[in-house]
This record gives sequence, C-alpha cells and structure tokens, in this order.
Amino acid sequence: MSTDSTEFESRVRDAIANPQNMGEMADADAVGTVGSSDCGDMVRLFLKFTEKDGKRVIDRASFQSFGCQTAVAVASMATEMLKGKSAAEAGSLSAEELSADLGALPPMKIHCGQMVEGALRAALDSGTDDGDPAPAPRDPGALAGSLAPSAPQTGKIKIVPIDG
Ligand code: FES
Repeated sequence: MSTDSTEFESRVRDAIANPQNMGEMADADAVGTVGSSDCGDMVRLFLKFTEKDGKRVIDRASFQSFGCQTAVAVASMATEMLKGKSAAEAGSLSAEELSADLGALPPMKIHCGQMVEGALRAALDSGTDDGDPAPAPRDPGALAGSLAPSAPQTGKIKIVPIDG
C-alpha cells in the first residue's frame, strides 16, 4: 500500500465531496473546452472578467467536467485559484500549480491536471487578450471560432481543444 497514493485519493475525495464552482456559466466572457484523445474525458472552463483598480481580472470561474474525479478536483481548485488574476497571470499557471493542493499527481493522473490547464488556455485564447484592460469581444461566434491554438501536448496523451 502506498501512503502517497492513499493521501492523494483522500485529497481527491475531499475535493469532490464539495466541488467549488461546478456548472455552466451563462454570462461567461470566455469558454474553453478540451478533451483527451486517450481517456475520452472532457473539461470545459468558463471565465467572467471584471475591472478592478483599472485592471481586467477574473471575477469568477466555473467548470463542467465530463471526466474523472481527479479532473473534477483539479478544476474545483483551479477555479478558486483563478479569482482576481489577470489573463496573463492565469495563463502562466501550469497544471502542477493548478493542482498543487492535491500534491503531486500520480503518473496516470497527470493528464487530468493538464486537461484543466488546457481548458484554461483555450478559454483565455477564446475571450481575452494578454491583460490589456480593453474589453474582450462578446461575439459568441468569435469564441467558438478561436479555440484552435496552443493546446498543451505532453507525453503520450494529447489534450485537444474542442469546438463547442
Ligand atoms: Fe482522463 Fe482523468 S482519466 S481526465
């Protein structure tokens, strides 16, 4: 029995017992969806921005997960972590940072964190610039059509943006 994996499982259980910010956000400024071609899971992240002290920052984030419990746990933590961050600050967060509260992810679960990072990047690409206070476009067609670039692809598992 591995203490590390037991601790990891218990942290995941705690996180999914009361997941934060789960669900669709009807008034989101940005939406990003990614899927893993390996496990078939998907994560969608919603961002709502606000102006604070002349700076455009994330007011709220929420997620939908069509995936495993680890992806739900990471997304729950990540959406809390994103509040108050600029697009540039959010975009610099790695999967490891987004899932830091769970501790190191077991090798088979690393892509679950990468899915959340991928969804975040897809959302930032869809609806924001790099922290410029100018308002982002709200045209839903523009959001849907701009999911293509910069999905993280690491190791054997490919995380891909999904239109929709
Ligand atoms: Fe695929 Fe967790 S097993 S997202």
